[in-house]
Amino acid sequence: MNQDDLKKRVAYEAINYIKDGMVVGLGTGSTMYYAIQSLGERIKEGLNIKGIPTSEKTAEWARSNNIPLTDFSEVNHLDLVIDGADEVDENFQLIKGGGGALLREKIVANATDQFIVIIDESKYVQILGEFKLPVEVVPFGWEVTAREIEALGCNATLRMDNNGIFLTDNDHYILDCDFKVINNPEKLNQDLISIVGVVETGLFINMTRKVLISYSNSGKVIEM
Ligand code: A5P
Repeated sequence: MNQDDLKKRVAYEAINYIKDGMVVGLGTGSTMYYAIQSLGERIKEGLNIKGIPTSEKTAEWARSNNIPLTDFSEVNHLDLVIDGADEVDENFQLIKGGGGALLREKIVANATDQFIVIIDESKYVQILGEFKLPVEVVPFGWEVTAREIEALGCNATLRMDNNGIFLTDNDHYILDCDFKVINNPEKLNQDLISIVGVVETGLFINMTRKVLISYSNSGKVIEM
């Protein structure tokens, strides 16, 4: 089973948690792509829900699958949020933002009591940090912000794409920060967020109690 199959399997499993009448936060990324396809099928069969997307990309996928969308002008609290992650440690602390959607993802995840994270086995780690931590920053003065972040013990690289500097849906930049090992994610998150110019970090601390992991050996999805 390749990584795409593992993503598909865990995404399909997560959709079973969605019940009629729910308002559901829809995460971003390639695992969520499969979840949205599967949700579209369930809606065709009569499931009645509304979604809040965490990125323009997810909104586009949701619309093309006829998933009704809403936003925070209508809703205060989400029944459920489903999203992928880049790394998950044994205490369920997360690194997210590989797709650059971390700010909206964190706002949406913060608006629920039930945040379900869906990953394949390769992302379940003992210690966070091998994946470079995405940090969203204000473009103005980003060089100064980057130097202050680096003083915390990393190399910070400005994310680029085919058009030049990568811009988030909120018109900010992303610094991918190579800490190698993050021994105290909670403290690092606090230190980062207190730097002027940092908008949000990809560390999701104490936000989830449910992680679904798909394993290739057993072919099973395990709920942790
Ligand atoms: C998007 O900004 C990220 O937080 C994604 O949720 C994360 O990168 C997982 O993405 P994949 O499902 O594509 O691996």
